[in-house]
Amino acid sequence: MSTIPRHLAVIMDGNGRWAQRRRRPRMIGHRAGARTVNLCIDFCLETGIEALTLFAFSSENWGRPEDEVGALMKLFLGALEREVDELDRRGVRIRFIGERERFAEAIRARMAAAEVQTASNTRLHLTIAASYGGRWDIAQAARSLARDVAAGRLDPEAIDETLLAARVALADLPAPDLFIRTGGDTRVSNFLLWQLAYTELWFTETLWPELDAATLRRALEDYASRERRFGLTGEQVAGTQPRENNE
Ligand code: FPP
Repeated sequence: MSTIPRHLAVIMDGNGRWAQRRRRPRMIGHRAGARTVNLCIDFCLETGIEALTLFAFSSENWGRPEDEVGALMKLFLGALEREVDELDRRGVRIRFIGERERFAEAIRARMAAAEVQTASNTRLHLTIAASYGGRWDIAQAARSLARDVAAGRLDPEAIDETLLAARVALADLPAPDLFIRTGGDTRVSNFLLWQLAYTELWFTETLWPELDAATLRRALEDYASRERRFGLTGEQVAGTQPRENNE
């Protein structure tokens, strides 16, 4: 097993608290958080991580105060306008997962344009989860299979984990090896529920705007020290038989 995760999934939490501790509006925290997104992308490019999936906006975040949602949308649009050319130049493929229909047309158009512009890049697969929820993801995969059954293209008895896995988001990438959540909470919060089944989880108290490369390196060191068994025994994973106890 490689000691560098191939796919890193991140919940970027703590922007609001970072700003509130400085007696600044929450939006200042989100702006600082956008800079940490760049740092995290740089880190992946430097360490050779192949895929980075960031939870930018959850299905539940639509319920935040209207002015915060509006300001976040402006921030996303601005970041798309500013960053895409440079990411493209650096070989980053950008994609979005989530319920796109809920975004304004201007943002949807920018998302689609970023995906088209960077489609042939392979150095880093950057996925932004926006208006995304793990339960939504599983429901849309089930709906897609149900459509095939209703159209007579699929036998319901043929539905198994492999078929469902092919319809959830990120189906063409290896499952996340490492999940990082900043901000001190130790939950998955409806992020990639299906895809995280065997992912190593790592939590830090560090607020997202304060995250630095040294903390990311610590997460990678911890990941490298773990034994991933995927439900097997340690001996099986190591490729050795368990020693018989004859005594
Ligand atoms: C969670 O912090 C963060 C968000 C809901 C927004 C994430 C957005 C960014 C990091 C900015 C830019 C992103 C891109 C992709 C350009 P919180 O507000 O829940 O923090 P809190 O728990 O301290 O209140």
